[in-house]
Amino acid sequence: MTLVPAAVLVDDAREADAAVGAFNVITLEHAEAVVAGAERAGRPVVLQLSENAIAFHRTPDAIAAACVAVARTSSTDVALHLDHVTGDELVRRTADLGFSSVMYDGSKHPYDANVARTADAAAWASEHGIWLEAELGEVGGKDGAHAPGVRTDPAEARAFVEATGVDSLAVAVGSSHAMTSQDARLDHDLIRALRDAVPVPLVLHGSSGVPDDELRAAIGAGMVKINVGTALNVAFTGAVREHLAADGTVTDPRKYLAGARDAISDVVAHVLGVLALSPRS
Ligand code: G3H
Ligand code: ZN
Repeated sequence: MTLVPAAVLVDDAREADAAVGAFNVITLEHAEAVVAGAERAGRPVVLQLSENAIAFHRTPDAIAAACVAVARTSSTDVALHLDHVTGDELVRRTADLGFSSVMYDGSKHPYDANVARTADAAAWASEHGIWLEAELGEVGGKDGAHAPGVRTDPAEARAFVEATGVDSLAVAVGSSHAMTSQDARLDHDLIRALRDAVPVPLVLHGSSGVPDDELRAAIGAGMVKINVGTALNVAFTGAVREHLAADGTVTDPRKYLAGARDAISDVVAHVLGVLALSPRS
């Protein structure tokens, strides 16, 4: 068990009428915790590194190398994926960073520009053996506000996939990014319509705000890759805050990062447990 392509994990999940969990890494401790949670759950996992997280580290090299090392030493299958990449240069670094897949995010562009830019990224990815995810219908929320209103149109999604040749599609069905409460409501009829309209696996972004029963129903309706980020940071920061409140003199970061890492691992094991119990209806 070790580093595997995201395409394999997604295809396996799809064939099993199930879903694979994909979790966002910011620090080394995130990567260690996600893999520890997956090992505890006995499930494969996708470690994903966003363009924003890379910007925090200033260059992709060190944090990507850390993800590769953590994946290689795991006792479960781990895939490495670049997430929400808007720049061509980073898309084209996917393979040399040791990653097998990338999400090119052209969702902020008007439809025609999104098609043109995504098709370009997909052509490059296909030539280089990289699995490419794209987004149609912006899953909002990165500005901090829950923006559940946007929806991906099934006919437009079919045309988008045909025109771009992408391997998977992130769609807007009621979730939004960066939610710290689990009260998003998804449009399950729309998920089913999208599943029937497009030939590629569907990806749910902004899953931190989706309650467990909604997540199960979304997988039942056709979601195959489930992206979770914010919930990890809620747990991580909550554990740090709790430790610092109880111990005002601590200086060694290991004292509070250990608990924070465990808190992420607990979230990952829980989410993967929910996914394991959610076969497609
Ligand atoms: O691409 C990453 C995911 O969409 C994570 O969203 O931070 O709201 O869970 P989230
Ligand atoms: Zn996302």
